[in-house]
Amino acid sequence: ATIQWFPGHMAKAKKQVQEKLHLVDIVLEIVDARLPLASRNPILDQIIQQKPRLMILNKADLADPALNAAWINYFKQHGLPAISIDSQHNHNVQQIEKQAQVILADKIARQQARGIKNKPIRAICIGIPNVGKSTILNRLVKRNVAITGNHPGVTKKQQWLKAGKSLELLDTPGILWPKFEDPLVGKKLALTGAIKDSLYHADDVALYALAFFKQYFPERLQKRYRLTEADFELTDPDLLLKITADLGLKDDYERASERLILDCRKGKLGRYTLDQVTEAAAND
Ligand code: G4P
Repeated sequence: ATIQWFPGHMAKAKKQVQEKLHLVDIVLEIVDARLPLASRNPILDQIIQQKPRLMILNKADLADPALNAAWINYFKQHGLPAISIDSQHNHNVQQIEKQAQVILADKIARQQARGIKNKPIRAICIGIPNVGKSTILNRLVKRNVAITGNHPGVTKKQQWLKAGKSLELLDTPGILWPKFEDPLVGKKLALTGAIKDSLYHADDVALYALAFFKQYFPERLQKRYRLTEADFELTDPDLLLKITADLGLKDDYERASERLILDCRKGKLGRYTLDQVTEAAAND
């Protein structure tokens, strides 16, 4: 997605989401499992308030499995039911309907007590661009839905799509903006491909990636770019130069940065989670 967010777009996107909220029983908040905090919209809590919600950590196939579990726990401790899925390969997607039923069990029981049976649960996917909202929607409805108007500010008539025995989805996801203000968040979003390439400097993002992998998975860097133990004594910019040489890019630091970023996005450096649950817990 190549959305440029201006204040006017943000206001419009917020209003559209608020209008759709009235129509649904539950919000499916979609985030990237590699960035369970950084890929959240900063004001979603304020927008959806008390509406029931299921957090969906999508792209779980790209994230650290142990941290997927730790983040699910973290959100649950904060009163947010959460699951991890891989919508690309259709893993765990069926859990969405099951969890929605659990979350709305009281409401469903009250309806049944009033004689209302088999009323479908109505849901909407909400998230920042590129977290996989369209992929999830297509998986749930089991066909390819042309998501027209998949852009903030474009309105059209809402339609409900059958997304399971007891689940109906709004055909257009709610698209909200990411947290741009924090430069670290910006680098995380750029590294995972959540924001446009023109919005950041490749070398800044590559240096962030290097520092991360040096700290958590040095062996992966070593293997992929044929580094020696001594290379890890280098400063990060010098290490990036070493990798530039290994990639045969002479001193084209910029292109080497782009290659490193692409490797991270495509999972060539293995599964990783950039947001650390321990840091989040320390800030609570
Ligand atoms: P959006 O509607 O929230 O904007 O996201 P969308 O579904 O378009 O998904 C964005 C990209 O993420 C797509 O890749 C999609 O295939 C990929 N994706 C979605 N869910 C998963 C998942 O669970 N695992 C993995 N590995 N990938 C997932 P794309 O079309 O190739 O776009 P891009 O990679 O060029 O950005």
